[in-house]
Amino acid sequence: MCGIVGYVGRRGATDLLLSGLRRLEYRGYDSAGLAVLRDHALRIEKTAGKVQALADRVFETWSPKERSEAHMGIAHTRWATHGAPTQANAHPHTDGSGEIALVHNGIIENYAEIRARLEAEGHRFRSETDTESLAHLIGACYEGDLLQAVCAALKHVQGTLGIAVISAREPDRMVVARRGSPVVIGLGDGETIVASDAAAVVAHTRQCVFLEDDDVAVVTANGAELRNVHNVPVAREVSRIDWDASAAEKGGFAHFMLKEIFEQPDALRNSLRGRLDAGQGTAVLSGLNLSAREMASVDRVVLVGCGTSLHSAMVGDYYFEDLADIPADVEQAAEFRYRNPILSPQNLVVAISQSGETADTLAAVREAKQKGALIAGICNVVGSTIAREAGRGVYLHAGPEIGVASTKAFTAQLTVLLMMALKFGRCRRLSRQKGLDLCAELERIPELVSAVLARNDQIAAVARRFADVRDFFYIGRGYLYPVAMEGALKLKEISYIHAEGYHAAELKHGPIALLDRQVPVVALLNDVPGREKTMSNAQECRARHSPVIAVITEGDHEAAALGDACIEMPRASARVAPIPTTVALQLLAYHVAQARGCPIDQPRNLAKSVTVE
Ligand code: AGP
Repeated sequence: MCGIVGYVGRRGATDLLLSGLRRLEYRGYDSAGLAVLRDHALRIEKTAGKVQALADRVFETWSPKERSEAHMGIAHTRWATHGAPTQANAHPHTDGSGEIALVHNGIIENYAEIRARLEAEGHRFRSETDTESLAHLIGACYEGDLLQAVCAALKHVQGTLGIAVISAREPDRMVVARRGSPVVIGLGDGETIVASDAAAVVAHTRQCVFLEDDDVAVVTANGAELRNVHNVPVAREVSRIDWDASAAEKGGFAHFMLKEIFEQPDALRNSLRGRLDAGQGTAVLSGLNLSAREMASVDRVVLVGCGTSLHSAMVGDYYFEDLADIPADVEQAAEFRYRNPILSPQNLVVAISQSGETADTLAAVREAKQKGALIAGICNVVGSTIAREAGRGVYLHAGPEIGVASTKAFTAQLTVLLMMALKFGRCRRLSRQKGLDLCAELERIPELVSAVLARNDQIAAVARRFADVRDFFYIGRGYLYPVAMEGALKLKEISYIHAEGYHAAELKHGPIALLDRQVPVVALLNDVPGREKTMSNAQECRARHSPVIAVITEGDHEAAALGDACIEMPRASARVAPIPTTVALQLLAYHVAQARGCPIDQPRNLAKSVTVE
């Protein structure tokens, strides 16, 4: 998500803010900006594009005094969620008076309602962002005390936020607050640095205070005073950060991939945020921009993607057929674009792409458009080419995915596909009660993923036992068949071990000839339909002396007896089981690759986005 930096102290703020933003560039972003206070006036500079472009503008257009004599400021790298990556949408945003500036990381769910109310009171907005609504709201609440105004405003806000706010009327203090998005305060010598993560702080100080949800702090050059949103003082311990700047970028994890695996509970909460209608038992996906009548008229869904996104398309196929009674097909995007597909205006083509820039998937979108089909994109990068050319769709809101091997994007894709199928189903034969039941299942997804992450050490121990083999098989059925495919892809792309994902019933049709003691088989034996058949397949593998890594539902001793090693899953429905199970296979692949000393975040021969054919 976005990056925040704030500074107040004895040194010039401008250059420190820019260097802090550079420390946050790894997070991925599409625009940047800063605001500094000098002589009771705010100086704001914002630009689409990179921090270097922002720095160039500052160095070209600001006087040396403007850069060196401003001692307080805030800065931001934006990863667009609401509104395209433009200068107008870049942060900082100001209130109506232009005297209060704010930078924000998170999602204001009720921003439209806040904006409408303020516009009715005469406020004029300049951006499409949710954040600007909060800036104007703080301005509307301001009565000479910035802390009081922030606390008052936050009482009306739903969603997540990590914010830093300054006012031209209060030159020596900044207000920061946290609700669901991290804020760290670095306590320096005659200066204080705030940021969305420690990477921007450790260059200046290692003494840090990590805010907790609903903490608000008044920050000055001499430190910070913490309160809660009810203005009651709170005490937070000062931690010493021992990470170096590079490790801080990864939040203390050894690799971005591991950080992103562990981010999945929060990432999936963001994917779900504001999108479940507990009244009607449906999903709220406004970006689809399809009426109930149009959704009811769709007579076929074609899901296209590549790599991991192709695997999520395979799961989406089952979701649409099981929940919405709509015939669905899955197409590898490169195949789809060249085989002259048969489409009609009642067909919906769903293009799935984390980056939104994969060449074959983009070409598939253009081919589908050419043939008059309805198009929807499922992308993670706001404003990406596929998202724009699809014209409608659903963003993952999973935050930037830096590791080449896709992890949180995949589980977010499944979560979004499940919500889409729910929404289409409720426009057709799915009852309100079944819709409510599915909403409850969706809400449990983050905790199911957390339960798997808690088993990280056990999974690492299994991984180390099998790190020296040359071949792996992954087998599953039903919703878990695509998970077997995805698990094999994760292993091969970061550990360089040859791994195949197969439908469990397919082994007998040839691949079983390859099994021997050196070829372990990961068998997805979760307690969902198909379990008994896959257990038989696991028996067949054992009969050929292949070691079996049994992925089982916790407490399933019968299935556990088939495993030379076991990985326990929390109990979940067939529809939801692919998500926690994939997380276990992500960890298995990660720890195998780690044991083999592989580079992991940038595997050989691979790119994060395949923008060529
Ligand atoms: C998955 O781990 C790989 N990085 C790769 O298969 C990727 O999923 C594929 O290139 C599609 O990328 P996209 O989702 O950005 O379109």
